[in-house]
Amino acid sequence: MSVSTSPMAPESAISAMDAIYRRRAVRDYTHEKVDKAAIHALLDAAVHAPTAMHEEPCAFAIVQDKVLLNRLSNCVKDLLARGIDPIHPRGGKLTHDQFTARDFNVFYNASTLIVIYGKSMGPFVAADCWLAAENLLLACVAHGLGACVIGLAVTALNTQEWKKELGVDAGMTAYAPIILGMPAAPTPQVPRKPPEIFTWK
Ligand SMILES: Cc1cc2nc3c(=O)[nH]c(=O)nc-3n(C[C@H](O)[C@H](O)[C@H](O)COP(=O)(O)O)c2cc1C
Repeated sequence: MSVSTSPMAPESAISAMDAIYRRRAVRDYTHEKVDKAAIHALLDAAVHAPTAMHEEPCAFAIVQDKVLLNRLSNCVKDLLARGIDPIHPRGGKLTHDQFTARDFNVFYNASTLIVIYGKSMGPFVAADCWLAAENLLLACVAHGLGACVIGLAVTALNTQEWKKELGVDAGMTAYAPIILGMPAAPTPQVPRKPPEIFTWK
């Protein structure tokens, strides 16, 4: 039996349980750029997630251009301010003052954004993309990187304007925008409720 291993595992690999419990939504980054080898390793971890009927419907866009990231952040803020983001009609949990503040960047000035797209429209494409997203988030922990899903960016990324800008086919759908970089400081743990078991027969 052959066992699949990471071609680019970090030298001090951590256990899957460690990665799960150490992962945090990181919103404070150093200016350090994530190198190409690390990004390839993260993408490789992402595509090792299970996919329905082994369809492998995910594709990735990587954005490290600061000017482009700032433009995209401003576009997200503009959609929120105009109240036309159907996912976040009132700006989600952010107050109007927060998302219109000049210095607020929805990507928290992270050096890298990876967007996971579904290439087709099947019933499990969203699930496939989110499973790939979780693999990527856990791989970030193993590589000493911080990461955070930025759901606020989904609507902007699915506009024709941004699909064109990023070279995305019109028929593809952005599901999971994930920022990553070197954490600037330790991120406190966010507590969880215990699992709610409503049936165990
Ligand atoms: C689908 C999804 C969308 C999210 N969107 C945002 C976002 O737009 N901005 C943000 O700062 N955090 C976002 N988060 C991160 C959550 O706020 C975070 O995971 C949650 O507060 C729990 O914190 P933890 O991940 O550190 O345990 C998102 C997480 C998920 C799963």
